[in-house]
Amino acid sequence: MTIEQIYKLSIELGIKADLRNKEDIKRVLSDAKKEYQDLPKSEKEYFDKDKFFNPYSDTRIQIDKPNKKIKKILTGIDIDSAEILLADKLKVDLIIAHHPVGKSLADGLEDVMKMQADILADYGVPINIAEKLIEKRITEVSQKVKPANHYQSVDTAKLLNIGLMNTHTVCDNLAAKFLKEFFEKEKPYNVEEALHCLLKIPEYKQAKKMGFGPFVIVGSPKHRLGKIAITEITGGTEGSKQIYEKMAQVGIGTTIAMHLSEEHRQEAEKANINVIVAGHISSDSLGMNLFLDKLEQKGIEIIPCSGLIRVKRKK
Ligand SMILES: [Fe+2]
Ligand SMILES: [Fe+2]
Repeated sequence: MTIEQIYKLSIELGIKADLRNKEDIKRVLSDAKKEYQDLPKSEKEYFDKDKFFNPYSDTRIQIDKPNKKIKKILTGIDIDSAEILLADKLKVDLIIAHHPVGKSLADGLEDVMKMQADILADYGVPINIAEKLIEKRITEVSQKVKPANHYQSVDTAKLLNIGLMNTHTVCDNLAAKFLKEFFEKEKPYNVEEALHCLLKIPEYKQAKKMGFGPFVIVGSPKHRLGKIAITEITGGTEGSKQIYEKMAQVGIGTTIAMHLSEEHRQEAEKANINVIVAGHISSDSLGMNLFLDKLEQKGIEIIPCSGLIRVKRKK
């Protein structure tokens, strides 16, 4: 496979696993085409044309090596210059980061966060409310990300002539869909059971052994779960802290999160929503693994690094 083919496969899998309905995704793609057409000529060169086929602004090829057959990949959750030097030493053809780098980091999170509104709407939160709350949060995240040194690791990979890409929301979608189906099948009764259940997933079991297993951050072990919502696994980063009150109003009882800030925790507590933190790096690993399995099945060697808990699943 070439980098381009790996990239296209990640998008295909991301769309398939997306919790939104497929019409919402089609709309994102057609809106991008329309936006481009309506741009004045002087602005067109700045438009990212990947948006025509890729609805995930935080998943991109950073350094392509056209026509190169990829045989060996180094992949991890955070890829920095250290990992890139390692990639050079291990003579890999491509590095795949999970967290955004380069263009995905510079302006990738804002667009993809909008999908949180659609996911919440599918759980019953009125779209107008979900949309307005996420908009405010997007501004906050954007202000935080803007001053970063977005291309630092990309520059290192460029000097060493190594291919680099990152797969963020496509893999978080895979984790979200997996967890949604998992809880639908397991049907845990209370918070304690939900927590135990998660340990059946090898990434969380391993994380627990390593000291960062799932835990309950809001709620008590014997509390009933009510309706479980998978609203905090995908969609760029943490959403609006004001959303918990709205979620409670539409009958959501429990949410499964990758991580939770103190401010978010307090709001969830006030809204009487249970929150189970599945774990950040373990959940990111789950999503990456579901994608990496597909690459391994095509004969590519996968070398995990940077926190990635590699678990292989059968076809
Ligand atoms: Fe993630
Ligand atoms: Fe993450």
